[in-house]
Amino acid sequence: MKIAIFASGNGSNFEAIAQAVEKQDIQAEIAVLFCDQKSAFVLERAAKYQVPTVSFSPKDFSSKVDYENEIKRMMHGFDVELIVLAGYMRIVGLTLLEAFPKKIINLHPSLLPSFPGLHGIQDAFDYGVKVSGITIHYIDEGVDTGPIIAQVPTEITAEDTLESLEEKIHQLEHYWYPKVLGEIIQKESYSYVKKSVN
Ligand code: GAR
Repeated sequence: MKIAIFASGNGSNFEAIAQAVEKQDIQAEIAVLFCDQKSAFVLERAAKYQVPTVSFSPKDFSSKVDYENEIKRMMHGFDVELIVLAGYMRIVGLTLLEAFPKKIINLHPSLLPSFPGLHGIQDAFDYGVKVSGITIHYIDEGVDTGPIIAQVPTEITAEDTLESLEEKIHQLEHYWYPKVLGEIIQKESYSYVKKSVN
């Protein structure tokens, strides 16, 4: 199966997924990394794994629909079947959602529906919750809403700082996101083979 990864910044989750693909823990090919920030570090990581990259920003287009139509065209060009958001800091619009129904997966650094948005880790820390974690979910038109696939909690202790919580969350993400994606892709490929045989 060909997948695309969308990212906006550092790309540590991109790298965790790329390593799992290399080890064949994820039975997929990363057909393309799409990045909406032309100088993001994730682009360097992709080069290291010889993953093709495409980068453009909504600012290059007159509307979000035009921006997403270009992404859609590019996804079809790379034969992408599944889109994996890994630190893609934008709300996906209807143009892409309708083109990839239940085929766009997101990772969020809190236990949704608590602390959606751009600062999930900081918001959970500032609120003083004693448990936070990560959520892997299909996206819909809301902000960090959509059917939940998996959640993994972590305790926030009195000794934790924002930095130590960030570290805990990233460790969970790097272990669980590739693992859950591997399982989803295996199931999807299986049902695809079954459908083609029937
Ligand atoms: C990750 O913590 C991810 O959960 C978060 O951005 C970070 C990206 O890190 N995503 C969101 O907050 C989405 N709302 P990375 O660039 O090192 O993979």
